[in-house]
Amino acid sequence: MKTPSPQRFLGKVALVTGAASGIGKAAAQRLAGEGAKVTLADLDQPEVACVAESIRADGGQVLALRLDVRSEPDWQAAIDRIVSEWGRLDLCVNNAGIAFAKPIMELDLADWRRVMSTNLDSVFLGTQQVMRAMKAGGGGCIINIASAAGLKPLAGNAAYGTSKAAIRFFTRVAALEGGPHRIRVNSISPGAVATPMWESTDLWPRQIAATGGRGAALQALVTDHGFAEPEEVAAAVLFLASDEARHATGVDFPMDDGFSIT
Ligand SMILES: NC(=O)c1ccc[n+]([C@@H]2O[C@H](COP(=O)([O-])OP(=O)(O)OC[C@H]3O[C@@H](n4cnc5c(N)ncnc54)[C@H](O)[C@@H]3O)[C@@H](O)[C@H]2O)c1
Repeated sequence: MKTPSPQRFLGKVALVTGAASGIGKAAAQRLAGEGAKVTLADLDQPEVACVAESIRADGGQVLALRLDVRSEPDWQAAIDRIVSEWGRLDLCVNNAGIAFAKPIMELDLADWRRVMSTNLDSVFLGTQQVMRAMKAGGGGCIINIASAAGLKPLAGNAAYGTSKAAIRFFTRVAALEGGPHRIRVNSISPGAVATPMWESTDLWPRQIAATGGRGAALQALVTDHGFAEPEEVAAAVLFLASDEARHATGVDFPMDDGFSIT
């Protein structure tokens, strides 16, 4: 018999960006499974609506929104909608992001800006808007998804790694500013996680050739390359979001099998 989930987030209102796929989808599913009312936000509206429908079918309370995390008006509209729908906002997971790798000498300014706007402007805009709503509601918790690529320099990773390193620093400043308003702000720095994000990398064609299909290719990342499952990062999101972590703020939690300490 399946053990029932604990209900650590009953009565809480959560927002997860990039919730149509990978880590965001897993975090949204688990938060809803533990009783939170969850807003799933993504650029990919059809896919985020599918994820919302599957959570609803399991008895979860969800709202699906199109939110481009680079857009200030989109953020304003999303927060207004959540507060009008659910009355408050307790938890935000700034998760949406894109992968990108190119050596500095080949990197266009346009590529650099695209990575920074999706991975870093997003966290600034989201944190600012969400902190205002949380301050009005008496507190809350923000979790920013950084990366082990922001802890350890890797050739080809100047844009992506810099965007993720900056998230960790930003998180600490936000934690300082959030403290007086009972807002905790933390980040997680995963190592490699088996999600569709890898479909845009050089590794993917080899994975597909070796396995023959998308699902098998993702599973092979876990079995052959030791990648984490998105649900494992989601478990850390839920811990940091829970009252069990109420004394944790301004911390980064690397989940990278020690990759960044060598
Ligand atoms: N997969 C990994 O190995 C890994 C490792 C470390 C960190 N991360 C980080 O985890 C986060 C989630 O990545 P994932 O692996 O689940 O990727 P994913 O590609 O599976 O999911 C990312 C989601 O973000 C959405 N998105 C992209 N741009 C957006 C925008 N402008 N506005 C709104 N939504 C947008 C996409 O539509 C997608 O649904 C990212 O920030 C990524 O950098 C991933």
